[in-house]
This record gives sequence, C-alpha cells and structure tokens, in this order.
Amino acid sequence: MPLPPLKLLLIAGARPNFMKIAPLIKAVEAHNRTGNGNTRAVEFCLVHTGQHYDEKMSNIFFRELGIPAPHHNLEIGSGSHAVQTANIMIRFEPVCLEEKPDWVIVVGDVNSTVACTLVATKLGIRVAHVEAGLRSYDRGMPEEINRLVTDAIADLLLTPSEDADQNLLREGVAPKRIRTVGNIMIDSIIGRTLPENPTAILDRLGLKKEGFLFVTLHRPSNVDDRATLEVIVRELSAIANEWPVVFPIHPRTLKNMETFGLSFADSPHLQLIEPVGYHDSLALTENARCLLTDSGGLQEESTFFRTPCLTLRPNTERPVTVILGSNRLTTPARLREDLRSTLQGPARTGIIPPYWDGKTAERIVAELLRAG
Ligand code: UD1
Repeated sequence: MPLPPLKLLLIAGARPNFMKIAPLIKAVEAHNRTGNGNTRAVEFCLVHTGQHYDEKMSNIFFRELGIPAPHHNLEIGSGSHAVQTANIMIRFEPVCLEEKPDWVIVVGDVNSTVACTLVATKLGIRVAHVEAGLRSYDRGMPEEINRLVTDAIADLLLTPSEDADQNLLREGVAPKRIRTVGNIMIDSIIGRTLPENPTAILDRLGLKKEGFLFVTLHRPSNVDDRATLEVIVRELSAIANEWPVVFPIHPRTLKNMETFGLSFADSPHLQLIEPVGYHDSLALTENARCLLTDSGGLQEESTFFRTPCLTLRPNTERPVTVILGSNRLTTPARLREDLRSTLQGPARTGIIPPYWDGKTAERIVAELLRAG
C-alpha cells in the first residue's frame, strides 16, 4: 500500500512571508512531478491569515510570485499584537481541525508565525519553522519574541545558516530538531520570472543605475517614536540634497509621519512613493548605489546583489549579511558619516553566503518527507 500524500498546511500572513512561501509551493509541485527519489506525494493547503491584506502589501506579491489563491483566508487584518495574535489563533484552530495536516509550516517571525505555531502544537500537529534560529538578542523587538516562542515549541527547526544553529544549541535545543537548509528568500530571487522590462521602475522614476539611494523604514523602534522619526526625516532630507533618494513608504511609517506632522516637502530629490511590489523592490535593490533600511529581508537581498546596505538598527538577527555580505549597521546620528564612507567604497561588495543557492525549498521538502 503506498503511503497517503504527506499533507502540509502552509502559513502566509504578512509581506515578508510571501517570498518564503512561493518557493515551497514550487518545490512541492516539482517533487510531485519528478519524485526526486521518494515516491510519496506531497499535498499542500495554503492559509493566508490576512495580517497584511491590501493590494500593495499582499495581492501584488501573490501575482508576481505566482502564488495560488489561498485555500483559507482568515482575514484578520490590523490590530494590537494581542488582538492580532489572538484572532489568528481563534480562526486558525478550526482550519487545523478540518484539514488535519501532517505538518504546519510557518516562516519568518511575524505574529502569524507564532500564533499558528501555538495552535498547531497544542493540537498535537507537528510544526516546521522555516528561518528558525535567528536572534537579534533584543527583546524590545516584537519579532524576537515571536522567534523565541516559535523555536521553543516547533518540532523541526529549519535554519538558514550555521549561526542560527549555534543560537539554538546555546538555548539547549536538541541537535536532532535542527536542520541547516539555507536561505529560502534566495530561492525566490533565483527562480523568479523577470518581467519584460525588469528595470521599468528606474525609467519611471528617472533614476540611473547606481545613481540613487533606496530607502525603506518601518520598524517600530525607528518610526513609532516622534523624536527618532524626526531625526531620521531631517537626516534623509539633508542626504537628498546630494543624492537622489527613492523611499517607498510603509503604511506604518506614513501614518506616523502624518500623526507627527512630519514631511519631506522641502526635498525635491527625495521621491516618496507607495510600497512597491516584488520585482520593483528587487530592481531597486540591484541597481541602487546604496540601501538604507531596517528590513530583515532587504539586508539579505542586498547581500545577494552585493549592493552596499546600511541598516538603521543597533543589531541584526542576520549577522552573516555583515560578516560576509554587503551590510553594515548604523544609527540616525552616524547616518551621514556612514553613508559618505560607503559611497567612497566599491559599488559591489561582500560575498554571497553559503546555502544561498536557490535549492533551500527542495531541501526542506526532502527533510519533511524524511521526517514523515
Ligand atoms: C509586520 C511584522 C514585521 C514585518 C512587517 C513587514 C509583526 C509583529 N510585524 O509589521 O515583522 O517586518 O510586517 O511589513 O508581525 N497596514 C496597511 N495595509 C496592510 C497591512 C497593514 O495599511 O496590508 C497598516 C495598518 O494601518 C497597520 C500598519 O500598517 O496598523 C502596520 O501593520 P502591522 O501588521 O501592525 O505591522 P507591520 O509594521 O507591517
């Protein structure tokens, strides 16, 4: 009797999850076509929690990454951490009971990650965490709490790099729960189907290759505090007098700028635009002279393209981007100085870390089949 298909419940909730889920779906489909040495079929069911929900934060990523429509959309929307996490848990439990998966697969470190992990583990369903083991050692970050809780209770911890393994081992995690599989974000970059004109956004915004700075900022620590955001706006305005700046603004940042009465009105060379989709974001990352960001994903994507990146944070849970890649940490006070020295350096820098080879999703499917 052949084994029944291995059933996976894949969880996507917020913007940084979509480029981690897309390669898993492709790898499952490829496994079912080729067998890859294991004849057991794999079935998936996609759950979108609706943590991010609008065109620019969600829908465009489904289209551009070729993700099929979710089987379940929990439509939970925005709210405080407690409200969001609790609502996901309440709406996710009946989905688990109905679908009865062999595994729940969560990615990254958003509220959807921890909420679905809590529900599944308590129902006795095994959970695999993709991008396990990352630590900023900063519990002021909501994502750090999500990472700690998820890794403490998930069954299989699929890590992107050796430093993540070490973090888990230091926390007393049994080695048999840990598998180094690589960086799944890179699978999405390598496997993407490029649009007809991949750099159309540069033409649209009048930007020259390596002739602009690409800025994204949305962390509560940078944008929720009035005094901090005011300094950042002032520094960016000064920088934009010397370099064209493009800043696709996250809804959290926009809302806070409005609340605090801040603007870039006197900065004609700073283009404040709506959040961009996946292809445009990669085109800006690949072609910028330098990034300034507080995003985890962009630290990795800039390292992949070897574009210099300044990360406006006191720490990073992705140290490999600093040690091997093109990333460097900065502060609002040091920003202009660090930018000046970066612009004096090479336009491409760093090396691409190990396991950033586009085959992470394939390794994950193999690990799940092995675990049964
Ligand atoms: C969340 C994640 C963060 C991730 C970020 C990427 C957590 C704890 N945080 O933070 O790790 O880096 O997503 O964007 O899970 N909004 C919209 N449209 C949307 C979604 C949100 O306009 O589709 C607005 C809402 O007004 C909301 C605000 O953006 O209040 C912030 O969204 P929220 O989901 O609270 O957190 P993020 O800052 O996006």
